[in-house]
Amino acid sequence: MSKQKYIFDNAPDKNELKRLQAIEEIFDPPTQKRLRASGLELGWQCLEVGAGAGSIAKWMKEIVGEASRVVAMDINPRFLNENNSSGIEVLNADIRNAELQKNYFDLVHARYVLMHLPEYELALQNMLACLKPGGWLVVEEPDFSAARPVAGKKEEIHAVKKVNRAIFRMFANLNMDYALGLQIPALFQKLGLTSISVENDAPLAPGNSKVANMMKMSATNLKEKYLATGEATNKDVEKYCRFSQDSYAWAVYYSTIAVVGQKTITN
Ligand SMILES: C[S@@+](CC[C@H](N)C(=O)[O-])C[C@H]1O[C@@H](n2cnc3c(N)ncnc32)[C@H](O)[C@@H]1O
Repeated sequence: MSKQKYIFDNAPDKNELKRLQAIEEIFDPPTQKRLRASGLELGWQCLEVGAGAGSIAKWMKEIVGEASRVVAMDINPRFLNENNSSGIEVLNADIRNAELQKNYFDLVHARYVLMHLPEYELALQNMLACLKPGGWLVVEEPDFSAARPVAGKKEEIHAVKKVNRAIFRMFANLNMDYALGLQIPALFQKLGLTSISVENDAPLAPGNSKVANMMKMSATNLKEKYLATGEATNKDVEKYCRFSQDSYAWAVYYSTIAVVGQKTITN
């Protein structure tokens, strides 16, 4: 198994927390809707994989109640206070090899985690193994191949295309699939999950929107990694950041593919 670190591990805590909280602000409402639709209710046991800043795990805990467990797992739980008052259990572990009780959870959820793992199939198998027969697996992963600038200043559009190529190259060099979201439905089938449903959400957003601001934070945190690919220059990244702040510049920054499936009795 690769020992490479999560790409944002070197970002200063303050910057990374701000970025994770921006992700939560934008994506928690659709995630909560999906988790509710899977039947999440009082009494369920839940696992949140790659819990990040923890908002979804804390929200799940409010729903399942005091007597039920919500385990918030992260390979670097720097933003999950172990003595938190929310009642969630913090687990410092790697989903690729974590030892989890088999056939236990009613719901296992991960958002924007598997794409960081070359061994995403192993991680998915581990998530499925700890799920109860009849339990629900909800995975939301990005598809960066959907990224495209559609309106704005010509030289900035050119730079955005170059930075998008750098994002592809950075992930490819790490053996990661920048369009992993597209593979998840077929992987769910291969693993024998049933009642599979898929949503593909690719917002077309103007500069200075929440998505554009969050992508600017990613570009700032990962700038050196983008430059190292040779696909984009410092000036390109500066132009990308200006584009992301121009309310007359529009782009699809990426798509989120959300897949829900149920573990059968025979899995
Ligand atoms: C992009 S963040 C997403 C955070 C959160 N799921 C969200 O959407 O708000 C990815 C998170 O996954 C965690 N992570 C990365 N690799 C992991 C692994 N192998 N096992 C568990 N967590 C991992 C990172 O530390 C980080 O907190």
